[in-house]
Amino acid sequence: MGEDWGVTGPERETPQPSPPLGPSTVAHAFDEQAASYDKLVGANPGYHEHLRLSARRMGLRGRGLRLLDLGCGTGASTEALLGAAPGSEVVAVDASAGMLRQAKNKNWPPGMQWVHSTLAELPAKGVRGPFDGIFAAYLVRNLPDPDAGLRQIFDLLKPGAPVAIHEYSVRDHVRSRIVWGLVSWMVIIPMAKIRSGDTTLYRYLWRSVRDFDGVDTFTSRMAKAGFTDIRVQTMPGWQQHVVHTFLGRRPAEEAVVLEPGRLTPEHAGPRPSPRPRHTPDFTERDGGADDLGYGDDVETPPAGTPPTS
Ligand SMILES: C[S@@+](CC[C@H](N)C(=O)[O-])C[C@H]1O[C@@H](n2cnc3c(N)ncnc32)[C@H](O)[C@@H]1O
Repeated sequence: MGEDWGVTGPERETPQPSPPLGPSTVAHAFDEQAASYDKLVGANPGYHEHLRLSARRMGLRGRGLRLLDLGCGTGASTEALLGAAPGSEVVAVDASAGMLRQAKNKNWPPGMQWVHSTLAELPAKGVRGPFDGIFAAYLVRNLPDPDAGLRQIFDLLKPGAPVAIHEYSVRDHVRSRIVWGLVSWMVIIPMAKIRSGDTTLYRYLWRSVRDFDGVDTFTSRMAKAGFTDIRVQTMPGWQQHVVHTFLGRRPAEEAVVLEPGRLTPEHAGPRPSPRPRHTPDFTERDGGADDLGYGDDVETPPAGTPPTS
């Protein structure tokens, strides 16, 4: 007798199309791709060099800094951050246990802390600020609520400390959108098919970048979250005007204005930095590939330092 196609047997399960990947499921997709992730990004010319450039653009100075790498993945951004600020203590956070495991299995200097958490869950995992700098490479596009994420990053920073958000942004320019479509469909997605057989994550990558904020929208978001001194630079290579470093600072604490007989700043205790109202007070700089961001800023010598020549 042939197969029973009637209605008497157990109901046949109709395969349900899986929901498209989004911020709530992306960490699971990274788990599945964790083993092949390094090989894939290693084939992307400039991937590591560009992370190093963004980290250098933070202008981190001094040893013994406390830094946060949000969405550290397999550790490529962590390595870039440590390269820009050797001797720092780094808290590296990722929502994907698989990606974090790949990262932890590499060689690291002492002072590393690995945390399996989403950005939103960090307070519950006991990760608290203040940090001397925060690096978030290819993270914010994946957040369920980028505005809330930016506010949380702001609150985790020490007053005056920088954030570097290393991210794709193609919406503002036709050329950038075309380049992104071509690279995605002619290189990244076919390569993922060959290396892992599963292209779900990389089709999500294409879509999420296509739909993410343009530079103007994203810098406005940063200003709305309270960041000042916002600057944007791009990368060399095919990533020019496709991948960017978005720099911002939590404003330094306001000076306490003293009247005769009033408390000294020590007595007054630290004042919380105000979250400024949304005023896009950032200076738009050229944003070229060779712009070193805060790394270009001349350090003000301490008062009383004699001139060197
Ligand atoms: C494209 S990878 C980038 C990894 C690394 N920063 C790099 O530059 O190679 C993005 C990482 O962000 C993580 N991620 C996504 N959403 C997150 C969230 N809400 N909180 C923390 N990590 C998240 C993913 O698990 C993934 O490992």
